[in-house]
Amino acid sequence: MRKKIAAGNWKMNMLVHEVDQYIHDMTNVNDNAEVIIGAPSIYLQRLLDLKPKGIKIAAQDVSIHDKGAYTGEISAAMLHAMGVDAAIIGHSERRLYHHETDELIGLKVQQCLSNRVIPIYCCGETLAQRQANDQEKVVEEQVLTALSALTAEQMTEVVIAYEPVWAIGTGVTASNDQAEEMHAFIRKCLEKQWNAEVAQSVRILYGGSVNPQNADGLFACPNVDGGLVGGASLKANDFMSIIISAAK
Ligand code: PGA
Repeated sequence: MRKKIAAGNWKMNMLVHEVDQYIHDMTNVNDNAEVIIGAPSIYLQRLLDLKPKGIKIAAQDVSIHDKGAYTGEISAAMLHAMGVDAAIIGHSERRLYHHETDELIGLKVQQCLSNRVIPIYCCGETLAQRQANDQEKVVEEQVLTALSALTAEQMTEVVIAYEPVWAIGTGVTASNDQAEEMHAFIRKCLEKQWNAEVAQSVRILYGGSVNPQNADGLFACPNVDGGLVGGASLKANDFMSIIISAAK
């Protein structure tokens, strides 16, 4: 049984007093789901200090380097030493605005794995690629380019987030069928590249305009193991409602 995950991605939102209020409002986090909050790095220590019960803390990026003269970067070793549990890697906004390639993203995933930080690896096609019916080809290539150097054992530690770019922040969600189809396809790729055990154990989250209204339907799909949630994770009540959907 794969435990479902409700992961929030705050992106570059929230001021510090809002962070405090949010955690104060996060009452009754249901532990039938794994709950993760991906926060701007400046708030990681704050969140760790607030020790929200039942919530794992994630960074939104990590360096490809171990340490050294890389101004502005944060290493996976630093995250682990602080007690940060996970990192969102290769989000489409980093691919777009920071020109991250799958090769680079693969190095970041490896940094996470070497330092016991759970990598949440993001992939997904653009609108033009979906319209050309290339979504499977694109996502397979992303996953294999970034992750194929990993051993089966390492791969079971990775969380994949399938996030069609056309659904991110647009209010347009993939239908349950579209999400299920792509998640089943990704699982098939995992089986082909690694083995059936890897395919069955890796959690694959859906991301892209998940909200309290559509979470139940999406998370009920057999191959959808929860969600990576942007906009709707910014309000504690909405996120708690999504956590309840993941805990069902
Ligand atoms: P959204 O963002 O839920 O606001 O669409 C999801 C994401 O980018 O992870």
